[in-house]
Amino acid sequence: MEVYRELAALREALGAARGDGREVALVPTMGALHAGHIALVEAARRPGACVVASIFVNPKQFGANEDLSRYPRKEMGDITMLTDAGCDILWLPPVEAMYPEGFATNISVAGVSEGLDGAARPGHFDGVATVVAKLFNQVRPARAYFGEKDFQQLAVIRRMVADLDFDIDITGVPTQREDDGLALSSRNVYLLPEERQKAVALPRALGVAARAILGGGEAAKALADATAALTAAGFAVDYVSLVDAETLAPEPAPGRRRQLLAAARIGHTRLIDNLSVDPLS
Ligand code: PAF
Repeated sequence: MEVYRELAALREALGAARGDGREVALVPTMGALHAGHIALVEAARRPGACVVASIFVNPKQFGANEDLSRYPRKEMGDITMLTDAGCDILWLPPVEAMYPEGFATNISVAGVSEGLDGAARPGHFDGVATVVAKLFNQVRPARAYFGEKDFQQLAVIRRMVADLDFDIDITGVPTQREDDGLALSSRNVYLLPEERQKAVALPRALGVAARAILGGGEAAKALADATAALTAAGFAVDYVSLVDAETLAPEPAPGRRRQLLAAARIGHTRLIDNLSVDPLS
């Protein structure tokens, strides 16, 4: 795997790959990689592809009281994992290259960015959209891969790509889970052992609610029951919501795909998860 920390050198390598007829696929990450990220790399790998992973802990998507300074960083381990996964190029931009003196642009995707995590973390999705747009312009991939675990992020990126005419095919890759169902996340390392045990209540509560709704139960009751189960397990619940899977609007219209999303804190760690409530998925 080739590692680049300078944009001109990255562009030269990508130009050569395209010249050889290879299709560039991008896996944007913030590092501290786990099996969920590796599933993205595996999905991106195709015969003749040039798979680029980026690692950039993006300051613009962290709020003032969030975990930017303590966000896990493990560059050497990440490089080994990406090499083993068959990634071709790692793009490691320095913060000065992403946000040089005078940087003044902000991409804000209205609607899908506003509720749920957008309400709980003001400015977060502007930071995500802005950095992803930059990465798209730097790498100019034909395809890009994002985890469905960050379901709202994926919806924001899809909306931005459609609105700004990025000629990039976006693929959402299913959430990877521990054996007990907890969604893989770089932030799981923050969980103390007893919090880790209790954290399984999050996927369980979503599973119970999804089954109740699919079985014809009243959505409001299923959401209230999930909130109560999470509270009883020791979580402080930010939200448990049933939304339209594309627009993320609450109270999805009949016939639309639906998604159940939740965010809750256990101790100092905020976890998110989601499940489809589509009879066919
Ligand atoms: O999902 C992430 O790791 C980040 O939000 C992303 C998409 C790499 C943008 O910083």
